[in-house]
Amino acid sequence: METVLLSDSEADLLKAAQLIKNGNIVGIPTETVYGLGADASNEAAVRNIFAAKGRPADNPLIVHLADFSHAVKYTSYIPELAYRLAERFCPGPLTMVLPKNDLIPMVTSGGLDTVGIRVPSHPVMHRIIELSGCPIAAPSANTSGYPSPTSAAHVMNDMNGKVAAVVDGGESEFGVESTVIAIEGESTVRILRPGCITKDMLLELCDEVIIDHAILNELAAGEKAASPGMKYKHYSPKADIIMLEGDLESFIDFVSKHDPENTYSLIYDEDGEKFPFRYMTYGGTSLEQAHQIFAKLRELDEIGAEKVFVRAPSKEGVGLAVYNRLIRAAGFEVIRI
Ligand code: TXA
Ligand code: MG
Repeated sequence: METVLLSDSEADLLKAAQLIKNGNIVGIPTETVYGLGADASNEAAVRNIFAAKGRPADNPLIVHLADFSHAVKYTSYIPELAYRLAERFCPGPLTMVLPKNDLIPMVTSGGLDTVGIRVPSHPVMHRIIELSGCPIAAPSANTSGYPSPTSAAHVMNDMNGKVAAVVDGGESEFGVESTVIAIEGESTVRILRPGCITKDMLLELCDEVIIDHAILNELAAGEKAASPGMKYKHYSPKADIIMLEGDLESFIDFVSKHDPENTYSLIYDEDGEKFPFRYMTYGGTSLEQAHQIFAKLRELDEIGAEKVFVRAPSKEGVGLAVYNRLIRAAGFEVIRI
């Protein structure tokens, strides 16, 4: 299949929307990462998404809507807290897991009786949903297991020849995927995947926010995941990633004793000034690190890095999202130095 690269012009967005309406898959930009979009109610189209990514069939897709008010059409129940969260955070990088109804096929929900609902804020994505008139199922547009794409070029790299088109909407603003939450009882939120809507932001609207165990810990064999995506190795470049947790001095000391000639280090911007070995930086603040992390992991593959020591990010605020992606990229290999 020839993959057409589309621009963000109205005429091209109309083409993208038409392709989706007709059962095709299109790479589409969002404010978090690029997605692979198809009509969420079209089972054949959704199956093609799983095939293009090489994604396990039990890992559910998020359904993207133009406005949260449309969620009533695809769910069987919406708790009051969901409306309050939507008022504050939609459109934006938040996905709420809600009980689904029959308009969402089981293929889309990975066999679950719930569906993740998200209202993206990216104007291009928003316009494509509007023009297509479809609820759009969209996982991140990477090959399953590889780092998520934050540019149209990343999507082309993974999906050229496998999807009908890719829409170039520029670099993704946040760079890590949406915060995925479940609502428990009247006023408790469980974070299933951390993102740029943080625990503290959610706490402004509810009594309790639980960080699911699987966010920082590897699931034991046979342990059930609240979010199926958490059980798979993820976000991994070809390079072997090892996370080192500690200060810069200990980091330099560790690298100096572990084959510095044949490794790369991925460190904070401000670490670069004093760093004596081969390195790349991934930002200073947590927001910058979120924005850059996936692009940097892909870049390390491009330059042929085989082994990479990463200076672990903070686990506070947006940092938790970056940490969660990196700990998976590292296959949970973290060394406290
Ligand atoms: O920012 C994002 O969320 C991006 C953009 C494209 O919207 N999408 C994305 O989709 O990251 P994906 O499929 O790569 O990740 C969705 C995650 C998976 O870990 C999946 O297991 C979880 O959300 N998820 C989806 N529906 C769920 C459900 N009904 N219950 C529990 N977890 C769910
Ligand atoms: Mg993904």
